[in-house]
Amino acid sequence: DQQRVLAGKRVLVTAGPTREAIDPVRYISNRSSGKMGYAVAEAAMEAGASVKLISGPTFLDAPSGVERINVTSAKEMYDAVMADLEDADIIVKSAAVADYQPINIAKQKIKKSGDEMTLHLVKTPDIAMEVGRRKKGQFFVGFAAETENVEEHAQSKLARKGMDLIVANDVSQRGAGFDGDTNAVKVFDRYGEVLQLPLVSKKEVAKQLIALIAKRWSQDERN
Ligand code: PMT
Repeated sequence: DQQRVLAGKRVLVTAGPTREAIDPVRYISNRSSGKMGYAVAEAAMEAGASVKLISGPTFLDAPSGVERINVTSAKEMYDAVMADLEDADIIVKSAAVADYQPINIAKQKIKKSGDEMTLHLVKTPDIAMEVGRRKKGQFFVGFAAETENVEEHAQSKLARKGMDLIVANDVSQRGAGFDGDTNAVKVFDRYGEVLQLPLVSKKEVAKQLIALIAKRWSQDERN
């Protein structure tokens, strides 16, 4: 059945931004709305998969039938992904994870003092890198937000992080990437470009991505 190409498969999707606390009332975050990842979760559901959605803070409702796990920080997202990794057949990482977090979270609200202040940041755990390291036969799809040398950057990320496919958003293009309802993407495997979608809805990107994943999965001997 065309419609149920992922029947019986377990899909883990990450979506949305992370928030890295500075003090009890402030954080560092980014403009991800979660729309892209939620659309992937919904498309996977519609394709018959059982779907877990590990989500940073968003204003979206989980698609019905999808199990949502709410997280806030990169570290929490890391822990949630690692806890569910073994049980997944397919992992799609559309979240915009913070690359850096404050080295300390101040216990009290930081008071205004001098004219300048410095925030000390350290790297967050690289979830994708660790998924690539730990995966045992799972089909792994990453996202990349790129502004230049899209193919080169996306393919080097795919190779470094052990991904099977990478979806590169051309975020230099109007209507693509963060927050809106549309996106423009190129999908690469390790040999090159395998799909190109100029400005279409995020729902359409998700549908086509799920169809591609299902096709690759069924061609794959690991199945
Ligand atoms: O949420 P929307 O508003 O709909 O926007 C969608 C989106 C633009 C956020 C989405 O389409 C997207 O591109 N997500 C990935 C953005 C990103 O963080 O790209 P990156 O090149 O920095 O990261 C590459 C990959 O590494 C991603 O799969 C990311 O989840 C992962 N990563 C990054 C840092 C980190 N510490 N751990 C990670 O796993």
